[in-house]
Amino acid sequence: MILSEYQQDVRETVDHYLVQLIDGLPNHAETLKQAMRYTLLIGGKRMRPFLVFATGEMLGIAKQDLIGPASAIEAIHAYSLVHDDLPAMDDDELRRGHPTCHIKFDEATAILAGDALQTLAFEILCDCELSPSLQNKRIELVKILSQSAGYLGMCGGQAMDLAATNHLIDQSQLEALHSKKTGALINACVAMAVSLAEDTTPQIRQILAQYSAIIGLAFQVQDDILDVISDSVTLGKPQGSDQALNKSTYPALLGLGQAQTYLSELHQQALQALHALPYNTAMLESFTDFIIQRKY
Ligand code: IPE
Ligand code: IPE
Ligand code: MG
Ligand code: MG
Ligand code: MG
Repeated sequence: MILSEYQQDVRETVDHYLVQLIDGLPNHAETLKQAMRYTLLIGGKRMRPFLVFATGEMLGIAKQDLIGPASAIEAIHAYSLVHDDLPAMDDDELRRGHPTCHIKFDEATAILAGDALQTLAFEILCDCELSPSLQNKRIELVKILSQSAGYLGMCGGQAMDLAATNHLIDQSQLEALHSKKTGALINACVAMAVSLAEDTTPQIRQILAQYSAIIGLAFQVQDDILDVISDSVTLGKPQGSDQALNKSTYPALLGLGQAQTYLSELHQQALQALHALPYNTAMLESFTDFIIQRKY
């Protein structure tokens, strides 16, 4: 299967699961429910679910067992975007080509939609279908996702991002920031797939962790570059937002050219890590090319 077909397949599977879940909720807070649905389903590339499926299937896990973890991580990601766009954070009005949640609804609803999407992710991990032999993996999945989303991961990274706004930080500090705010959830995609696999060796786990750390960083480096060179229509979010807020980014620190060179280095490192694996890594190689060369 080629990348675009696999992407389409992942999107349909995850979106179907999430729509059923949201639409099945009772209606005692209808605006909140609408805001959650809006946030999850107005668009998005579904890169994290893709990574869960591509890694998991490579390791021999049945697709059915990957739907819950992939959907849970997309719910956390969607929550992180709603809160990232709030006036107290990046104060952005466009997301995935549509008004951000707090513009479409209101700020209180957006805060609550983020909160409810976050807890929904853990409800999914508790309730999703899993093969009988994998039932004992739920706690491990919850631990991976909670650590990567919280203080040790995305939230900690977002706090570092705010602290580095209007401040100069060096490259190792910027790498630590990016690896947490964006890298941690990308690591979790691979780590959840690995935790469901029956027979991975420590060496394979180490290579996969290294691969996900590289692409997690690369993902945010490209995000920073696109903020400089793209346009709001293509991005579906406001171009130039980082510069307007004086954010610490790779282009701001290194200049655009060197940031692009660094991204190419990360690209090669990621492919090298995949080449060290004793599996068919074709889909992950295409995925790596895609996230680094993506236009939005
Ligand atoms: C945007 O993530 C936020 C970052 C962590 C850079 P994506 O580029 O994956 O956003 P969507 O899901 O496709 O909208
Ligand atoms: C945010 O990074 C990453 C998250 C944890 C949501 P950015 O602030 O650069 O993401 P965009 O550019 O708004 O999507
Ligand atoms: Mg931000
Ligand atoms: Mg932002
Ligand atoms: Mg950005």
